[in-house]
Amino acid sequence: EKGTYPHFMLKEIDEQPFVIRRIIQEYKDENDQIKLDPDVRQAMMDCDRVYIIACGTSYHAGLIGKQFIEKLAKVPVEVHVASEFSYNMPLLSEKPLFVYISQSGETADSRAVLVETKEMGHPSLTITNVPGSTLSRESDYTLHLHAGPEIAVASTKAYTAQMAVLAILAVDTAQAKGIDMKFDPMKELGIAANAMEALCDQKEEMEKIAADFLPTTRNCFFIGRSIDYYVVLEGALKLKEISYIQAEGFAGGELKHGTIALIEEGTPVVALATQKDVNGSIRGNVKEVAARGANPCVLSMKGMEQDGDTFVLPEVDELLAPLVSVVPLQLISYYAALHRDCDVDKPRNLAKSVTVE
Ligand code: F6R
Repeated sequence: EKGTYPHFMLKEIDEQPFVIRRIIQEYKDENDQIKLDPDVRQAMMDCDRVYIIACGTSYHAGLIGKQFIEKLAKVPVEVHVASEFSYNMPLLSEKPLFVYISQSGETADSRAVLVETKEMGHPSLTITNVPGSTLSRESDYTLHLHAGPEIAVASTKAYTAQMAVLAILAVDTAQAKGIDMKFDPMKELGIAANAMEALCDQKEEMEKIAADFLPTTRNCFFIGRSIDYYVVLEGALKLKEISYIQAEGFAGGELKHGTIALIEEGTPVVALATQKDVNGSIRGNVKEVAARGANPCVLSMKGMEQDGDTFVLPEVDELLAPLVSVVPLQLISYYAALHRDCDVDKPRNLAKSVTVE
């Protein structure tokens, strides 16, 4: 039920801090240590490479998951779009572990790959919001997202839940491997949940950003570097699917290799700046597009902000920044769609679960 909310999407955006807190509860034991299916831990230990398979928003969560698993657990990860994988299979490592990320657990493209990798004899883990779903039943192991039913077609809380569970999985693997870490995932996820909540309380600011930057535009660019690049891919997908504004996410450094040709007077360019080591270079990109007439909308993280930034996000651990920085992108998309009288919860041509290949 939507309750007092005008749309499921807005309700689900607002639920995100609570979902993260629920995940913390579900994945920790009485000593505040990570509690994870020991078989999943073993599978992560036994593999020499993780292959993440997913579609759409879940694929975008997988791109962030790769950062977590490689940076924290030092296990190499490849992320593949399910529909491409079957006919364009990469050379597999000797001991692959296949990780399927799917909110619904019913996505036919992902299932087709699972059927194939099972036949090949490879172990599989599904990360899903629906434990009894097809992908969950057919894979060896399941991790539950605990996000509660997601009704709006545009995925929001499942995405942030996927990233949180992937972070926990990465830290658990690192601990199992005896990697010494200064990163306390439950504490940092708690801080991220608080930051998400603070952002959900600033809807008026988000509505204003949507009104200032996206009122009549036909297109919009999103740029980011490093981990921010993967978040802007998701930001662009959210905007296009619910507001029908043509949106594209780019790595900041790629702009000059073609896309900058599309910048015209007034083109909105949303830039994310949450990663210290690339703050200078993304700022350089913002200057480049502004010099060509673009209307830059800069969302930076506290500690990295500069004069003229459009909005400053609360500070969280850099690795977990995507959980926080995606919230304004979701809200800006929501308000942009609302202003255009779009059917926010049921965008045209889209279905909640895509059960055909
Ligand atoms: C976008 C969206 C889709 C899904 C994709 C995969 O907002 O919802 O891109 O993420 O269809 O669906 P699941 O996660 O159910 O496999």
